[in-house]
Amino acid sequence: VSTWSYTPPTAFSGAVAGGNLTQLETLALNSRLNVADGHARQEPTAGQMKVIQDLPELFVEASGKPVEELERAAFGAYLRLLGQHSFPTRPGRVLSCYSSSVAMEIVARSLATATDSMALIHPTFDNIPDILKGVGLRLVPLSEADLHHGDLTRIPLTGGVFVTTPNNPTGRVLSEPRLRELALSCASRDEVLVLDTSFRGFDTRAQYDHYAVLEDSGCRWIVIEDTGKLWPTLDLKVGWLVLSEGLGLPVPEVHSDILLGVSPLVLAMLRGFAEDAERGGLAELHRFVAANRELVRSALADVPGVSYPDTGSRGSVERIGLGDRSGMDTWAALQTRNVYALPCGPFFWNDPAEGDHMLRIALARPTPVLTAAVEVIRSVLLGR
Ligand SMILES: Cc1ncc(COP(=O)(O)O)c(C=O)c1O
Repeated sequence: VSTWSYTPPTAFSGAVAGGNLTQLETLALNSRLNVADGHARQEPTAGQMKVIQDLPELFVEASGKPVEELERAAFGAYLRLLGQHSFPTRPGRVLSCYSSSVAMEIVARSLATATDSMALIHPTFDNIPDILKGVGLRLVPLSEADLHHGDLTRIPLTGGVFVTTPNNPTGRVLSEPRLRELALSCASRDEVLVLDTSFRGFDTRAQYDHYAVLEDSGCRWIVIEDTGKLWPTLDLKVGWLVLSEGLGLPVPEVHSDILLGVSPLVLAMLRGFAEDAERGGLAELHRFVAANRELVRSALADVPGVSYPDTGSRGSVERIGLGDRSGMDTWAALQTRNVYALPCGPFFWNDPAEGDHMLRIALARPTPVLTAAVEVIRSVLLGR
């Protein structure tokens, strides 16, 4: 673990307090003990190594096939793996993007042609509010408590509702009955329902057939699917925009303003990863994340004041309640020892103080890296 030479970060070193989460993640990129970003950085499994070793053949295959065929194969394999059997198959209903953030930018620009406001889940990863605000949308916070248990008719009327499920960082999943209720509410209020399902691969509770529910509801909807959080593909990934019939937003036009399409090689590789996951790789990944979560919880079990706010989370990130300690001070103390996590304030985009006493750490890391990082976290929390 300690054999990497460490390069002190320079890129955003002046922009820590008040910086966004991605700036904090950038500081971590050169550290071996990076438990900051939620990207998949674990060792590839034997099955995944086979796909990686097949890349030269996949390159030849990808060069010789129509992109549409590769796209359909990758998207279909990915969504069937995750239980989304009613995904749309008609042309024009699925658009490939380089990443889910690019997909989100396209959604935001499209929404801004039709509305000036959106309700957005609170907390969530801060680049979602930043992108939506970046196109001039006014955001109304929708707390997880209200989303899961509140009276949906009391959500202020806006142009749409944006929900991350499973959520980042809390891991909370919108249940099937609640998705149905929300979609029906959006249909009756003529709001667009947008789902970011980037983390659904980690949690079987998020793998019921969302498209069946959405299609039945009659609402206008957009789903952002994302392969990028699941597999250690060195950030080769796709964000898919999946659109309802009659959406009434210029999503294809904005998409064509930004890109032509994604690499056929990436599509062919992702199909390979999805097929491996179907053969048992997904269950293996779930076991891996669960074991890493357990490792963290048991390593910090006797540290006074530490708690786990997301007891039911199965996602690849874990929040640690710090008691009276400040998330930012803890982050800074860890950084001096080359361990990078994330303070949780910025996830609470409408009220950062709510996240002041929490840290988020990534679990999709090689177990020795996580063990070493948690050892340092433990000694910092113990004041050593
Ligand atoms: C819920 C969610 N959606 C989208 C993104 C953006 O992903 P990417 O950086 O691959 O575009 C993130 C990043 O962590 C995220 O947490």
